[in-house]
Amino acid sequence: MHRLILSLLIASLAACSHTPSVPLYRQLGGPDGIQDIVGRTLTRVAQHPTAGRTFKGVKMPFLVDSVSKYVCKVADGPCVYEGENMVRAHADLGLQGSEFDVMVSVLREELDRAGVGDAAKNELLRRLAPSRRDMVQR
Ligand code: HEM
Repeated sequence: MHRLILSLLIASLAACSHTPSVPLYRQLGGPDGIQDIVGRTLTRVAQHPTAGRTFKGVKMPFLVDSVSKYVCKVADGPCVYEGENMVRAHADLGLQGSEFDVMVSVLREELDRAGVGDAAKNELLRRLAPSRRDMVQR
């Protein structure tokens, strides 16, 4: 009987010491960290020789702010996104698959540079990947 109580005690202690899971937006550095990552990503993609074409004339600070809130929300953060849905936001841009791929690979590099771990990085990219079909037209 003592052994049973002891093992129950050990099991419950083990359960308590389990680290509570950190929400994804926190693993990305919170709203400020996300803003930095998105800012660097969009600045680079906007300067890209081919993928940069759609950013001509776009007010970058406003876009960075809007995309940051969107990403924060996708990552379960408390941010409020008030922009268009992904279909409407990209409808007039005629985005190609290759342009989407540039965005993803630059984002991947900036997540690495910010020190975001592989699990959090891959989880964010996994959540963003399905929107490819809402944005890409050719
Ligand atoms: C995972 C990928 C992407 C996400 C999460 C994303 C997200 C967003 C969001 C949230 C907006 C703002 C909508 C608004 O404020 O109403 C936006 C607009 C925009 N996106 Fe994306 N986007 C992605 C991919 C791309 C790609 C691949 C390009 C081009 C290479 C691109 C170019 C733009 C441009 C130019 C705008 C501004 C359009 C305008 O102001 O008329 N996006 N995007």
